[in-house]
Amino acid sequence: MSSPSSVIQATVTLRVHRFTPRPERERRHSSSPFGRRGGSPFADSARAGRPRGKSWVQEYELLVRPEDTLLDCLLTIKRDIDPTLAFRYSCGHGMCGSDAVAVNGTPTLLCTAQVQDWVQRLPNISYPDDEGFRRTGDVDDADNANVFEEDLAHQIDEGDHLGVIELAALPGFPVKRDLVADIDSMLEQIRRLKPYLIHHNAIKTREDGKVDVLEYLQNPQELAKYELLSNCIACGVCEGACPVYAGGEAFIGPAALINQARFINDSRDTATEERLEALDTADGVQACQSVRACSRQCPRGIDVGEEIWQLIAQVKER
Ligand code: SF4
Ligand code: FES
Repeated sequence: MSSPSSVIQATVTLRVHRFTPRPERERRHSSSPFGRRGGSPFADSARAGRPRGKSWVQEYELLVRPEDTLLDCLLTIKRDIDPTLAFRYSCGHGMCGSDAVAVNGTPTLLCTAQVQDWVQRLPNISYPDDEGFRRTGDVDDADNANVFEEDLAHQIDEGDHLGVIELAALPGFPVKRDLVADIDSMLEQIRRLKPYLIHHNAIKTREDGKVDVLEYLQNPQELAKYELLSNCIACGVCEGACPVYAGGEAFIGPAALINQARFINDSRDTATEERLEALDTADGVQACQSVRACSRQCPRGIDVGEEIWQLIAQVKER
């Protein structure tokens, strides 16, 4: 029970919600008249929004260290157990936002979620020193998934079974395959609102024709107004947590609003009025119910709900 944490390995069960889309060929030859080309004009969009295919839950048991990330676990599965499991990642360090999934029902990033923070104890599993564990949440309580409060590595023996972690694709988006969600709708919504600096005046140039960067200097207070917002990595975790956002039809979504807040709060951007106008729509800030679930798991520390609240105030004050 006292071996160093770096060498202790215990088993964990990953319960993965899997999905394989129907092959394109089968869809083209579907016997349904709605699946044929030239059939219902809504057939394609219906398929795009709710992919058809085979869904099932698959369990993988593997040896882990408590401090391993869930991305580590999936890479082990992919390499040693099941090469067919699909998931997405890139940087591995919480910087790119490509690996957002639902862990025990809560949207978060695979590469920053550690086994010890997400494993759910099984009621029928006997632990080596049950008194030594401090339980901080119910197994079914997705908001309180940190079941073990203290450093798990100091409480387990080699080979113990830690429990279960449930993984599913990011909620609110169509599933492409297994843990890969189709986040195109979110990216399109961000694009639609012009995610770049707009400076209506002509760019200031010096006599030699080069851009006069001194014209665009900001003081620290101006930078502080949007610096944190510029850290958004468009991971979609806030969208997956939002009960109003589900594919983006009715609500443009928290990620697009945070992106706009970043430019609205930037003193160099001169398009504030048109940006606020574009947000004052039925699917813009008017759709936000201020539930603030979007704030809970932002991996970049942005208080998404509060920022949207500030945007709503700015829209109303115009
Ligand atoms: S605001 Fe946070 S949770 Fe939402 S997309 Fe940006 S980084 Fe992800
Ligand atoms: S892999 Fe880039 S944020 Fe997780």
